[in-house]
Amino acid sequence: MLEAKYTSNVDRSENVAKFGKSSRGAHDAASMQRGRQQGAASDAQQTPTSAQGRYGRLENHIEPEAEQRERERRPRRGLDTQRSRGVNQDTLVATEATGSYADLAATEGQQQKLGPVVISLRNVTKVYPAQPDKPALAGLTLDIRSGEFVFLVGHSGSGKSTFIRMLNREVVPTSGELMVAGENLRTIRNWRIPYLRRNVGCVFQDFKLLPNKTAFENVAFALEVIGKSRHVVETQVPEVLRLVGLEGKMDKLPDQLSGGEQQRVSIARSIVNRPPLLICDEPTGNLDPQTSLGIMRLLERINRTGTTVLVATHDREMVDQMRRRVLALENGVLIRDQKKGVYGYDV
Ligand SMILES: Nc1ncnc2c1ncn2[C@@H]1O[C@H](COP(=O)(O)OP(=O)(O)OP(=O)(O)O)[C@@H](O)[C@H]1O
Ligand SMILES: [Mg+2]
Repeated sequence: MLEAKYTSNVDRSENVAKFGKSSRGAHDAASMQRGRQQGAASDAQQTPTSAQGRYGRLENHIEPEAEQRERERRPRRGLDTQRSRGVNQDTLVATEATGSYADLAATEGQQQKLGPVVISLRNVTKVYPAQPDKPALAGLTLDIRSGEFVFLVGHSGSGKSTFIRMLNREVVPTSGELMVAGENLRTIRNWRIPYLRRNVGCVFQDFKLLPNKTAFENVAFALEVIGKSRHVVETQVPEVLRLVGLEGKMDKLPDQLSGGEQQRVSIARSIVNRPPLLICDEPTGNLDPQTSLGIMRLLERINRTGTTVLVATHDREMVDQMRRRVLALENGVLIRDQKKGVYGYDV
C-alpha cells in the first residue's frame, strides 16, 4: 500500500505541465452536487461502525482499482533509494496508552510496524541571511521512519517552523544532507519540487482555506490543481470529508464553520491525495482543548493508515499524554529525541 503510494507520487513520467493547471472550470455546481449525492448513497449502503471501518473504506475509494494497477506498473523509485541504503525494516512496539488520550495512542497489544526511513537529516544547518550569527537550526541529525507519529516541541524561536518548512522545501538547508521521500532536498531540481510536495501534506495553525470556496470546493481544489479527473474529485472529496466528520457541512464556506471544522477541512485537503507524509505546524494553536483533542484524534487515525505524521506543537498536555516520539529543539539544536516522550519540564 505504502509502496504503491510512493511509486505513484514520485513517478517522473507524469506530465509536469499538468501541475498547476486547474480543471475547476469543468466542474459545475450540478456535477459537484451529483458527486455529493453519490457519496451519500454509498455511505447509506455501508455505514461505518468504527474508525477502522471508515479507513478501510477510504482506502478503497481513494485507490480505485485502475489507479492501483497503474501504480503497480510504475517503477518504485522512492523505496528503491531507501533499500539501496540498507535501511533496517524491523518492527517496533508501539507505546502503551494512558490517560484521557488513551485511545489516541496505539491500541493495547497492537504492534505498529514502521517502514523505511522517509525523513533523514545529517548535520543539517539552516542560517537565515537576516540572522547570520544565529543558526535557526544547527547540526541536526535524525531519522523518521514511515508510519511514525512524531511531535516536535520547543520554545518560541527554537526552529520548529523552520524544520517543518524545510521538509516541503519552502526553506532550503544551508548545509548538511536532507532526504525526504527519496529526494535530496539540497540538490533537488526545481521541476521535481511539485512532485515532492504531493508527497508531503501540510497543515498550518491558520488553516489557509480559500475564503470564497465551500468545504467541498477547498478540498476539490487540491485534486484539481494536480489534474485529477472529475470522477476522482467527485469520489474522493465526499469520502475524505466524511472521514474528517464533515459530511453535513460540505456546502459551507469557511466563515460558516468553527475553527475546529476549518482545521478539519484543511486536514482533508492535505490528505485527499493520500500523501505518505503529513506535516503540521501548530495545528491546534488556535483551538480550545476539546477541539484540539478532536484534531489530534483525527491525526492519530490518519497515522494508523500508515501515513507518517510530524506535528510541531506547544500543546504540552497533548504531547505528555499521547506518549509518542518527541523531538525537542532549543535554539535550533536537537536536545532530546525520545521514543515515548513527554513535553518535558526543561522545554
Ligand atoms: N525568514 C526568516 N528570516 C530570518 N530569520 C528567521 C526567519 N524565519 C525564522 N527566523 C528565525 O529563526 C529562528 C527559528 O524560527 P522558527 O519560526 O523556526 O521558530 P519556531 O520554533 O517555529 O517558533 P514559534 O514557536 O514562535 O512558532 C528564530 O530565531 C527566528 O527569528
Ligand atoms: Mg513556528
